[in-house]
Amino acid sequence: MFALKINRHQIVSYIKHFFIAKRKGHGVHSPFAYQLCEEVFYNNNVFYEFEYLNNIRNTLFKNHKKLVIEDFGAGSKLLKKSSRKIKSIATIGISSKHQSEILYRLVNFLNCSNAVELGTSLGINTLYLAKANSKSSIITIEGSLALFEFARQLSENYKFKNIQFIHDNFDSALPKVLNVLNKLDFIYIDGNHTYEATIKYFNLALTKKHNNSVFIFDDIYWSKEMTKAWNKIIQNDSVTLSIDTFYFGMVFFKNEIKEKFHLKLYI
Ligand SMILES: C[S@@+](CC[C@H](N)C(=O)[O-])C[C@H]1O[C@@H](n2cnc3c(N)ncnc32)[C@H](O)[C@@H]1O
Repeated sequence: MFALKINRHQIVSYIKHFFIAKRKGHGVHSPFAYQLCEEVFYNNNVFYEFEYLNNIRNTLFKNHKKLVIEDFGAGSKLLKKSSRKIKSIATIGISSKHQSEILYRLVNFLNCSNAVELGTSLGINTLYLAKANSKSSIITIEGSLALFEFARQLSENYKFKNIQFIHDNFDSALPKVLNVLNKLDFIYIDGNHTYEATIKYFNLALTKKHNNSVFIFDDIYWSKEMTKAWNKIIQNDSVTLSIDTFYFGMVFFKNEIKEKFHLKLYI
């Protein structure tokens, strides 16, 4: 999701993406990438949980309660506190229904049993990840106490059992989380959008990646430095496939993909 202000870099990148990106998997030759197109990106089948999750999302749009939020901004620095209505956070500042449904399909398709989310916010996207595979375990990290408490309560209200909520800064929490995981199936990096932080979290996550892992980076066109980070990530030797959907970028590490390739998809 994009934040409040749209900048020139985003507009120019979007126009380029619009003209260059492939549509509906046409011209996608890799069997695995083609399957992802069919099952994840352009799959119109509706999972029955989508209605349930969307109803929870709709409660957020009607919630006028205010939360006093510690704003981390980009760079992990605690900038200021601000009071925001839940409905306005739900409107601007969290993954859209479409994005959450894509992440749900991805977890489901890849059968991820453990997933990490950096940036819980209201926790609605976390619920999608948790529902996608009831046998999975989801760890989500949030620096703002008010958001952490709200998200934890939301999951309790709807009796989700497979989510661990952590209130901490990504910089200190991620190494600890990775330390206790044997392997990392899925990580969604959705906060602290600086070049240094993004590369740092990528390198940390790499220590637990395996052949079927997927790493997802949100807001890769949010700023020039985020695009620079994305371009650096996809050049990493262990990445064999990257998918740029404009809204987020995903990297895969499959050994069976012998020739590394980069795919841009219009979704
Ligand atoms: C874009 S929101 C996450 C949205 C959520 N993943 C979703 O899909 O709906 C980013 C969140 O990351 C948190 N955040 C940003 N930088 C952080 C940091 N360095 N440590 C901990 N939390 C941070 C912010 O407080 C914010 O709630």
